[in-house]
Amino acid sequence: MAIRMTVFGTGYLGATHAACMAERGHEVLGVDVDAEKAERLKAGDVPFYEPGLPEVLKRNIEAGRLRFTTSYEEAAEFGDVHFIGVGTPQRRGEYAADLKYVHSVIDTLGPLLKRPALIAGKSTVPVGTATELAERVARLSPVGDQVELAWNPEFLREGFAVKDTLEPDRIVAGVQPGGKAEAILREVYAKAVDAGTPFLVMDYATAELVKVSANAFLATKISFINAMAEMCEAVGGDVTLLADAIGHDTRIGRRFLNAGLGFGGGCLPKDIRAFMARAGELGADQALTFLREVDNINMRRRGRMVEIATEALGGTLIGKNVAVLGAAFKPDSDDVRDSPALNVAGMLQLKGAAVSVYDPKAMENSRKMFPTLGYSESVVDACEKADIVLVLTEWQEFRELDPAELEGVVRGRVVADGRNCLDARKWIDAGWNYRALGRNLSTV
Ligand code: UDX
Repeated sequence: MAIRMTVFGTGYLGATHAACMAERGHEVLGVDVDAEKAERLKAGDVPFYEPGLPEVLKRNIEAGRLRFTTSYEEAAEFGDVHFIGVGTPQRRGEYAADLKYVHSVIDTLGPLLKRPALIAGKSTVPVGTATELAERVARLSPVGDQVELAWNPEFLREGFAVKDTLEPDRIVAGVQPGGKAEAILREVYAKAVDAGTPFLVMDYATAELVKVSANAFLATKISFINAMAEMCEAVGGDVTLLADAIGHDTRIGRRFLNAGLGFGGGCLPKDIRAFMARAGELGADQALTFLREVDNINMRRRGRMVEIATEALGGTLIGKNVAVLGAAFKPDSDDVRDSPALNVAGMLQLKGAAVSVYDPKAMENSRKMFPTLGYSESVVDACEKADIVLVLTEWQEFRELDPAELEGVVRGRVVADGRNCLDARKWIDAGWNYRALGRNLSTV
């Protein structure tokens, strides 16, 4: 059965969720306070890079199942289910998450809800938030607790957002006992549930924790392998061989064991910090002190990359040209939030290098966020007279790069692979000085 639903917030999460819910046959109204964003989406234009999303968006707008608005009145009138997909950024100068956008949706929408409805929160929030929001909305709505609240976290990855939303690994429904929320959410996700997706019902706090603990686990796995990269550097081992070998143990698994510059983006870094802050507030800070180390290991990799570049250039970056290939926090994304690549580029520049950055999709966002860095329009332009080439985001275009293309372009044949993504043999055979994080290269 088609459900009339709204999605508040049309960023990476909200826009994808809105389009995919329409794709599943529901009638969807996306809501954003940013009129320009809503207009672009109405015209079928996705304001960020996400493979496959423009097609789903256009198809459903044309089918009449998907619309966008800035009007909360229209949204309250239209929807029986209201999803919240607004951002919960890290507070300036603090670890804790800033809930102002979530509160603003509840405070504006609540008084307008004049008939029973379900609000389903998808944003990543500190544990305890759902309970507070349920009370808040029951107080604000003219129909009181007939507006129910559910916590229904989202696990999508940028770059795979459409697939992750249409075919999730699991659906988590944090609900209060005795309500209708579970039945409504089963209806919303009927196609996925019928196809065998596990539908897991639990209390609010556990649902909120599932989201942050999943991200904390992934961050820990990455920092674990990066700590092993530090060990490999200390003793002359090779972390890529180590990852393959431990990854064969099915209890460990090879995924998320790629050592390199570590994690960035709009989720993992801020989520582990907000999780620690919340643990502190709850008097449980000891439970998560290890996450501080996860964060430290992650940030150390960036500094190590700068050291490797400096060493390779004879101890100083002053007067050196550095080509930086990659700006997005990961490939298949134009997102530069907490991007390790741009962080490294900034540190190199501070140490006196002339930096030239190229990324296939993230140039516009990078220029906005880091206007003082140097930029180029192609790999070859970025590498023009470079003393060293740094590969800091593992785009396919960079993986496939042929060193011969850079002959006569670069000034020095030195390449530093920040993501262990290049075919080291190929570069070494072409006469390049190949450097990487956590590798000794004896078996390359
Ligand atoms: C993450 C979670 O995967 C997703 O479930 C959650 O909803 C949001 O946060 P995302 O931020 O899109 O998704 O990216 P992800 O693919 O998880 O990568 C995160 C970072 O870790 C990237 O910077 C990536 O380069 C890095 N990474 C990933 C590694 O350094 N090594 C790995 O082995 C895997």
